[in-house]
Parts: sequence; structure tokens; C-alpha cells
Amino acid sequence: MAIQFYEKEQLFKLDTKSTTYAIGIVDEEKFVGHIYYGEKVSDYRLGYLMRTEEPPFVPSKNDRDRVSFLDSFAMEYPAHGLGDYRESCISIRTLGGNVALSLSYISHEITKGKVPFQGLPSSFGSEEECSVLSILCEDKVTGIRVVLQYGVFEDVDVITRSVKVVNGGAEEVYLTKVYSACLDMDNKEFEAISLHGSWARERHKQVVPISHGKYSVESIRGETSHQDHCFMALQTKGTTQECGEVYAMNFVYSGNFKVMAQSDQFDQVRMVMGIHPEDFTWKLMPGEEFQAPEVVMVYSAEGLGQMTRTFHDFYRKHLIRSPYKDKKRPILINNWEATYFDFNTEKLIAIAKQASELGIEMLVMDDGWFGNRCDDNRALGDWFVNEDKLQGGLKYLVDEVNKLGMKFGIWFEPEMISPDSELYRAHPDWAIAIKGRTPSLCRNQYVLDLTRSEVLDYAYECVAKILRSANIEYVKWDMNRQLSDIGSAELPADRMGELYHRYVLAVYEMQERLMKEFPDLLLENCSGGGARFDPGMLFYSPQIWCSDDTDAIERLMIQEGTALIYPLSAMGAHVSDCPNHTVGRVTPFETRGYVALAGTFGYELDVTRIPAADREMIPEQVAMYHKYNDLVREGDYYRIASYADNHYFDCYGVVSKDKKEALYTFVQVLNRPNYHSRRICLKGLAPEKQYRIEGEERIYIGELLMKAGINVPNPWGDFVGKLIHVTEV
Ligand code: DGJ
Repeated sequence: MAIQFYEKEQLFKLDTKSTTYAIGIVDEEKFVGHIYYGEKVSDYRLGYLMRTEEPPFVPSKNDRDRVSFLDSFAMEYPAHGLGDYRESCISIRTLGGNVALSLSYISHEITKGKVPFQGLPSSFGSEEECSVLSILCEDKVTGIRVVLQYGVFEDVDVITRSVKVVNGGAEEVYLTKVYSACLDMDNKEFEAISLHGSWARERHKQVVPISHGKYSVESIRGETSHQDHCFMALQTKGTTQECGEVYAMNFVYSGNFKVMAQSDQFDQVRMVMGIHPEDFTWKLMPGEEFQAPEVVMVYSAEGLGQMTRTFHDFYRKHLIRSPYKDKKRPILINNWEATYFDFNTEKLIAIAKQASELGIEMLVMDDGWFGNRCDDNRALGDWFVNEDKLQGGLKYLVDEVNKLGMKFGIWFEPEMISPDSELYRAHPDWAIAIKGRTPSLCRNQYVLDLTRSEVLDYAYECVAKILRSANIEYVKWDMNRQLSDIGSAELPADRMGELYHRYVLAVYEMQERLMKEFPDLLLENCSGGGARFDPGMLFYSPQIWCSDDTDAIERLMIQEGTALIYPLSAMGAHVSDCPNHTVGRVTPFETRGYVALAGTFGYELDVTRIPAADREMIPEQVAMYHKYNDLVREGDYYRIASYADNHYFDCYGVVSKDKKEALYTFVQVLNRPNYHSRRICLKGLAPEKQYRIEGEERIYIGELLMKAGINVPNPWGDFVGKLIHVTEV
């Protein structure tokens, strides 16, 4: 039984394969307290950990120190305004201007199977895979009810959390903050690991010690962002890939978020995650409810590596829905870095022809095919085919590409509107803007107010009409600016604080419609590279463009940070031309292939113009992709060395679930003199199995490869890569 309620002890015990999570109900006021999250324990009698016999006691025993109690008790979902001065999870504003809430247990329900939330991305699982605990709490004064929701995925060691807020009172209230999860723990000398960056430098990992005060990672850009990521893990000091305790949270959401770790006066740590409260208010009429997005929680007693593999399995099994999720994706060639805006039918067909002869399976036509889009200053919103560029029309081009045996894919940026567009001239009020202010431009474009149903319908129809017009099998859905000037011509003043969240819901609605109407479509999300690489988008698209930086060396760090949480099957990665368009670096074509192999794999270059030697290598890379992709997509990921940490080389591997096969990638970034070879210990193999390394005669026992390792010859030069393929004999 994954969830048990012990009536006498008033205690819930949630068990997965290797973890236990315990919740207790205490005092006459029935506070819902957090007891334990960590390695699995068999005994359910955990209530003694709640410190209710230690001063300052619970209020029924010592009401004179109620504030001290509230300010130190480990709460499951702390409310606001009555004496807990740590970061709260929920606050409201009543018509009378009051902000306080006190949540008491009312009842609970334990059910089997997890149904996704309505209108929001969330995990799913059958009755055998997932049990759900819903604890109903109420604030007696306002009538606000909060349902604490826990999804227990026993086999994959994941607990999901969220809350639903219901206005059970007689008057409307304004929610001013609703986080989705909280973890109150004693500080075990925690460090926070989080992901940061910028455009073309997404998700670089950072580790900082947790000391007194608040450490938060957040976005108020209306999207997850290039800069910060909706993830945080608290790890015990000295945690490595294999050892140490890790408590991780990842948000299934694609808009403003906040994740925070706060160390208090008693060296307790509170970790919270949810929608960012800045510029957020949600009006709840009597009887209405608000569903907060989901948080995925992972506990690992075996270091970061185990955390990573748990997230990968969970997302592959319980979040990504596309029919492509377990399938090899077509190797694509995208014309963005090949041509930018300067292309026509003839050029695209020439690229497709050459690409098809080399084994590439799909042509993707990127930005610039519609309206007067000759550069990135205009025409977003004018989703009609530019027949000066696409002579003969879109269908002709798609048919010609299909005749070459290739699939066809297309780029859209449906959420945007250029001031220089027919759409804007007809509907200037369709842009998100504050009345009386000229909105701020970003890449010379505005964001469409998709919270208005006529705007959403229009934007959706633009995409759908094009997809209905030809055999288009893939869409790259781009989003190239963050939100600002938050205002809608339609929302009333007391609902303007809902705009950020309503916008995200509208994007989800559009993508849901798209998947319903075109169930076989391969959707790749993208946001100026990887600004919306998050679990929310993975619910709609099985792959996301990782970064606009296609340089193999920069990609090592971007892909390391991304793969810390997300499966390789989801990471859009392509081989591009050199000197690289973002950093000007020249790397061997071979290495570019090895690095892109750790993702969905494709090309981002003009195959008719690259050096002949590079072109000749493409069929080998295509064969390499077909040989290894099942393993890369479905295997367990192991990080061996990090270029971000050691500044010289990178090494990671993927091992099949049955441990019969493994592929390790080694990239020497900078060479150094006096090195004969590097000793590398392989990871993830079965110690007792016998293995052969491709290209060698000798047979090794797994234990030897993992404990003693192998000597990887020191290659000549910088940026040199090598694949090490290991199979059981
Ligand atoms: C940003 C994307 O990340 C690029 O790949 C490309 O599609 C451009 N937008 C097009 O404007």
C-alpha cells in the first residue's frame, strides 16, 4: 500500500520503492505537520518526530506562545499572517482587507490512479502505478478550503504535490499567493543546486551553501526563462553523483515561478515552490476553485546520479504523452543557420535533395516563410505563405520534399504580433499592453493577448489552416520574447493580476487543441533556444530545442545542466557549421556529431555548402544515430566527468536498463602536455557481467571497468571526441 492512514496516531505514511514521506495531524486545531521525507522506513510510528512535547508546545497545551509554535512547527502547507514568519505558501485578501489564514485538517481521501489536471499539464499514472492522497483543510473564519494533493508513484520513487483552493465562504476573495509545495526539514548542512544562464547559455549548474536568510531562484518574465530554471535540489554537503542525500523539486509549469530555500533561527530549512506571487492575484468567487500547478519531488539517498535517473524515468513514463515519446525521431535538417531569412523553394529543395541522399529524413523550414517576413522586424501574425519566396506555394514544396522520401516540418511563432504586420494594423488592441503606455518591444515584437478567446482562436486557426493545407508532420513552436507591460484590453481591473497565469493556460490550451486535431504531429517547443525547456512543455511536446548555441563545446555544459533533470530523448540537439555562428569556434565535425547524439539529433547547416569532408561524414553519423538512438533514448544516464567542473574534459554514458549495452561519450576540450592517457571509471554496468569494448579483443568484467577503469588515449588537439561502446559478451 503506497498510502496508509493510521487513525490512532493521526498519521499518513506515503511509501515508494525507496522513500517514505510522513504527515501528522496535531492539536485540537488539527494542524497538518510535516514529519519526515527520506529513505524508506518500515515503522509507521513516526509521530514522536513532530516535537509537540518540546517547548513551545502546541497551542492547546500552551496558547500563550502560539506565535512561537507557529513560527517553528514543521508545516505541510504553511499559511500566512498569524505568527509563522517564515515564507508562507498561501495568502489571500478578503473584501475587508484581511490577509490571514489558518488551515486545519477536515478530512481526507485516498484514491488509485492519477488523472491529469484540467487545462494544466501534470503527471499521469494508472491505478497500479499511482495512488493519490487528498487532504482537505479549512480556514474556519473565511471558509477557504485547501486540498493538499499528493501523487505517490511507488515504482519510480516520485511524489508529486499540488493544491486546489476552493472559496467556501460567502464573499469573493483574492488569492495573492499560492505555492504548490513545501518541505520543512532540519538543515543537514544543505547546499542548493540550481540552473542558471542567459540566451545561448541556458541551464548551467550552480551550487551554493544554504545559510541564514532566503535563497531563491525565480522568473517573472512570463516564461520559465533562459536566466533561471524552475528546479532546485538541496543536497547534503559533499554530495557527489553516487553519494549524499538530495531533495529535489521541479515545477510542471511554463510561466512565472519561484523556488526558495530559507534557513530559519533554529537552523530549520523551508523549501517552497510555486507560481511567483509578484503581479499575481486571482479573484475567487464563492464556490470557485483554483488549481495550482504540480511539483515533482524526488528524494535520493544515492547522490545526484540517482536523482537524475529518477526524473528521467518519471518524465518518460508519466509526463510525456506524444506518440513519439518511445520512438526514434526522424533525423531533421533545419534551414535556420543555413539560410536565415534568405531562402526560396529552389534553395530548400536543393538542401532537401542533398540531405536525402545522405540519409537525413526530414526538412524543417524555419522562420521567414510567411507574410513580408524578410527579417525579424516584421510580419509575425501574418501567417499566410509568402509566394515570392515559396514559388508554387507551400503544398508544392511539401510534395517535392515528400517525393525525395523526406518528411516536412515547419516553424511558427503563434504567440506573437509584430507592430509592422497586417494583423497589428487591423487589431492593435490584440497585443498585451498597459492602457496609456506604449508597450516595450523585444526583438521588435509584442505578445498576443491570448487570454482573449477571439485572439486565441485566431492564432490557433492560423497554425491549423497551414497544417491542414499540406502533409506537414512536424512543428517547431517558437516564442522569442519575454512578457512585459502586463495589461489586457479585456480583463477588468480586479482580474488584471490573473493575466500572467491566464496567458500560460492559453498557451497550454492552444497546444492541447493542436495535439487533438493533429495527433500524429511531432511537436518541438522552443523559446529563443531553451527559455521554455520545462516539464510543462514536455506534456505537449516530446522534445524541446535546448539552446540557440549549437557549438559542441558550449553544448557540453548546456546539455549537462539540462540532462540533470530531463531525459536525453527530450533534448533538441543538432550538428551545425563552423566557425560556429554564436561563438566563432571551430570544432571537428565528428565531435559535433557525438555531442548532438546525446539529444534528438539533426543538422542545422547548408548541406550543399559545407566542406566535402564534413558532408562525406554525414552517412556515418546517420548510421551512428540509428545504431545508438534506442539506447540513448531509453537508457540510464551516468555523469562521469564534467567539463564545467574540471575545465579540460567531459564524459557521460548511457546504459541500457538490462545492463547489456552502454555508450560513453568522452570529449577532450583542451589538450595538455605530458598526458599519455586518462583513467576513466565507467559507471552503471553490472559488476558480474563480462563486456567487450567495441574495437578491442579483450574481455573485461564489469567490476573492473567500473572500479579500476580504462585508459582513454590522450587525443591530439583540442575539442576531440570519442565514443566508447560496451556490450555484454
Ligand atoms: C529562435 C530559435 O531558437 C531559432 O532556432 C530560430 O528558430 C529563430 N528563433 C527564428 O527566428
